[in-house]
This record gives sequence, C-alpha cells and structure tokens, in this order.
Amino acid sequence: MGFIQFQKVVKEYDTGGRKFRAIDRVSFEIKKGEFAVILGPSGAGKSTILNLLGGMDQATEGAIYIDGRDITKYSEDELTVYRREEVGFVFQFYNLIPTLTALENVALVKALKKGALDPQTTLSLVGLDGHVH
Ligand SMILES: Nc1ncnc2c1ncn2[C@@H]1O[C@H](COP(=O)(O)OP(=O)(O)OP(=O)(O)O)[C@@H](O)[C@H]1O
Ligand SMILES: [Mg+2]
Repeated sequence: MGFIQFQKVVKEYDTGGRKFRAIDRVSFEIKKGEFAVILGPSGAGKSTILNLLGGMDQATEGAIYIDGRDITKYSEDELTVYRREEVGFVFQFYNLIPTLTALENVALVKALKKGALDPQTTLSLVGLDGHVH
C-alpha cells in the first residue's frame, strides 16, 4: 500500500447553487520516498488534488490515506494538526503575510509549532540572510 493513496476521490465545487465536478473518482498511490509530479492542462484538477492532499479542502467522496489513515474522516481540529505537523506546502502565490517582514513571516511558525527551526537560521539556509524587510 502506498504512503499516499487516493481512492475514487471526487471533488464538487458549489457554483451558485450548481455543483461542478472538478475531479471524478481519481485514484493513485505514491510510495514512501517516491518523488511524484502531477501534470495536466489548466483546469485538469491539479490544485484541487493538492488542496485535498494538504488537508486544506474536503473531498466530496472517496478516501485519502496518508500513512494508513484516511484524512477525509478527520475533524477540523485533526486537519489543523495534520497541516501543521505533517505537510509541507509551497503555494503558487506564496501566501505570505504582506504586512510582516520576511523574518516575521518565518518566525510566525515558531509561535505555532513546537520544535520549529530558528527563524534567522532558516532564512540564512535559503540565502535570505539579512532580509528582514
Ligand atoms: N473554488 C472553486 N469553485 C468552483 N470551481 C472551481 C473552484 N476551484 C477550481 N474550480 C474548477 O475546477 C476545475 C479544476 O481546477 P484546478 O484549479 O484544480 O485546476 P488546475 O489543474 O490546478 O489548473 P491550473 O493549471 O490552471 O492551475 C476547473 O474547471 C476550475 O474552474
Ligand atoms: Mg492549479
């Protein structure tokens, strides 16, 4: 069994009272340590799949197993912990807080998560030393 397993996952968006099926019974698995890429034309459902995988949106049908646990059964609180402790996500449009400096954006994680890396060290690891604005 894959570390990540999508089983017949459906996502329907509500568009002004009408349902739009963005993905229709998508199934795949990714093994632990495997490097995977999701490819497809604009509108194919890549972001929809990643939002479900990252615990940021709820599937309409189907199961999503991560390390043997079905995250579609998680409560909001469990999803919050899942997002904070288990998922790394780089957003297409960054989702930084524009009124905070680079250092403050990184430091925010330390306020939320025990054992987070030191913000200053983290910035220097990615070559952003001294970028406090
Ligand atoms: N919040 C939403 N409400 C209604 N329809 C949506 C919503 N989000 C996505 N869709 C629709 O679902 C389908 C899949 O969208 P999605 O954003 O997952 O595609 P994508 O493969 O990531 O595209 P792109 O390459 O442009 O990023 C598209 O038809 C899109 O218009
Ligand atoms: Mg997308």
